[in-house]
Amino acid sequence: MDKLAVTGGNRLSGEVKISGAKNAALPILIASLLTADTLRITNVPHLNDITTTLHLLGDLGVEIEIDEKLGVAATAASITNPRADYDLVKTMRASILVLGPTLARFGHAEVALPGGCAIGARPVDLHIKGLEAMGANIDIRDGYVVAEAKRLQGARIVCELVTVTGTENLMMAATLADGVTVIENAAREPEVVDLANCLNAMGAQITGAGTSEITIEGVEALHGATHPVIGDRIEAGTYLVAAAMTQGDVTVTRVGPSTMSAYLEKLREAGAELEIGETSVRLVMNQRPQAVSVHTAPHPAFPTDMQAQFVALNAIAEGAGAVTETIFENRFMHVPELQRMGADIEMEGHTAVVRGVEQLTSAPVMATDLRASACLVLAGLVAGGETIIDRIYHLDRGYDSIEQKLSALGATIKRIH
Ligand code: UD1
Repeated sequence: MDKLAVTGGNRLSGEVKISGAKNAALPILIASLLTADTLRITNVPHLNDITTTLHLLGDLGVEIEIDEKLGVAATAASITNPRADYDLVKTMRASILVLGPTLARFGHAEVALPGGCAIGARPVDLHIKGLEAMGANIDIRDGYVVAEAKRLQGARIVCELVTVTGTENLMMAATLADGVTVIENAAREPEVVDLANCLNAMGAQITGAGTSEITIEGVEALHGATHPVIGDRIEAGTYLVAAAMTQGDVTVTRVGPSTMSAYLEKLREAGAELEIGETSVRLVMNQRPQAVSVHTAPHPAFPTDMQAQFVALNAIAEGAGAVTETIFENRFMHVPELQRMGADIEMEGHTAVVRGVEQLTSAPVMATDLRASACLVLAGLVAGGETIIDRIYHLDRGYDSIEQKLSALGATIKRIH
């Protein structure tokens, strides 16, 4: 199993090209199930979760072609197997996204229940309830969600909780339903908007994406399209936090700053100077960062996917900050690892109270989920000595070429096979 060795102490500077957003690319690849034509997707990031999605689609019978620039052409002329197998679903919960489109187009879908994961229970009940409201018959059989529907019917669906993949699943299903579907309390994440833009390019009739009420007028069929995936705001944010922690000067490019507002505001509060371009952000930090308090909530509030990185920032900042997690109950697996590196963190329920220390020290640490892994890399960048991070397969699920990108900014980081 690969590990990363990070030697701390280097100030990061330079420019980093942000890859396509994982959380937009996954549903957009899966949207290819909605048409018999070819969907061409560009700016697809090079990540393990993308490989898993391509396997998943391939297993269902979708033809996949990948060009040398990581453009993907997916053609679901027909599907040979409507079943998403547990072996793949267990490695990537977002596999549940095949349920809505497969059911809407083919009338039948089977997807393994994802089960628990390191950051909490993460059920899929709202995906199921929404599809039932659209007339689907759904059973849970032998660990699989088995769904049937002749043709889905438009419906008014009120989501009890804001769910990103739930909104995406229902939005995709509704594009081919009979009549109008309204999703209330919908997720407003930029990745939902990117998916809606792609679906509209395929002939769907979606309005309101990016607001909490999305309206979808069902159509008979969708057609092929070409769609570039938006830049990854979480990857960008991770590099900006790295710059802030190392008192560096880093510009992230190919990403929309308007999708990053909540955490850019916090970086400013921490003392960073920001230059915001149309598709770039430059961060300059000339002093030790100030600790900041953050509270995660659905977009446009502070994203849970940036929480662990801000715990790392606070760990070496001046003063104390409270980091409260409201989306996932168990998303503080990075805290005990940071404590092993000398961080001063006290847990109070769903809040981590972080008092900054002058210097973290290196230690062997273990990655437990995707964003926790990023947090440990950040800590390694400022710790004295060499930090060895184990189980970095989590990192490879969501960060494209992280060691190359960090090395180019001046970090000392290497992969150990
Ligand atoms: C997506 C993102 C993930 C991000 C998360 C929150 C993808 C592929 N992943 O995950 O990176 O951290 O949004 O921004 O886009 N819930 C239920 N029932 C459901 C669905 C969700 O109770 O049927 C709960 C979850 O347990 C969680 C909350 O709702 O507490 C939000 O989860 P959700 O937005 O669905 O997360 P994902 O879509 O899985």
